[in-house]
Amino acid sequence: MARGFFITFEGTEGSGKSTQIEILARRLIRFGHSVVTTREPGGTRFGEQIRKVLLSVQNHRLDPRAELFLYLASRTQHLEEVILPALRKGRIVLCDRFSDATLAYQGFGRRLEMKIVRAAGDYSVKGCSPDLTLLLDLEVRVGLVRVRERGRRNRLDREQREFHERVRAGYLRLARMNRGRIKIVEASREPAAVADDIQTIVDRLLKGRRPANI
Ligand code: TMP
Repeated sequence: MARGFFITFEGTEGSGKSTQIEILARRLIRFGHSVVTTREPGGTRFGEQIRKVLLSVQNHRLDPRAELFLYLASRTQHLEEVILPALRKGRIVLCDRFSDATLAYQGFGRRLEMKIVRAAGDYSVKGCSPDLTLLLDLEVRVGLVRVRERGRRNRLDREQREFHERVRAGYLRLARMNRGRIKIVEASREPAAVADDIQTIVDRLLKGRRPANI
């Protein structure tokens, strides 16, 4: 069975994931690859409905455990309905956030018990893991300024700076624990420079032709 590649993008707020996904998708398509771009929370009709609930500033009293389950519910549906079918067709899936976001935000950020976050997360995706994760890393302060300039702040953007610092530190820790899969990309630079680094890393993955872990 032909198998594609599953590439995820992670980072704190304002790290430029959407811009980089767009650039990479365009380049891969130009080289003849079949590409699917998608995001979490979201990516399916059901997931996009959950996304609205999760990001609405009206839901500022959402309990962190309720929040965890909503992210995971969105992910399970997304995996089954979009990601796995695309990988089975040999496509390259570029996904804006996946399981590492839950470990970073709900585990390190919200300080939910890591063992439980990890176990529930693994269950939600049946242990599926990306082939490659690009962690766009930049100072929290810089990212939050970018978000503010964009104008529309959601429920998470409004969190205290310390929360975002814990998330960033969490992501960097996850990268140290998963050196083979998670590559740190310095994201404070111009988008074109960041995109070139990403292209180099992705080319290496595609040349190795290591199949999706599904
Ligand atoms: P986005 O702004 O990158 O689209 O992500 C939406 C927000 O949801 C962002 O603040 C990160 C947060 N998030 C979690 O807290 N846990 C998760 O599992 C995911 C996927 C996102």
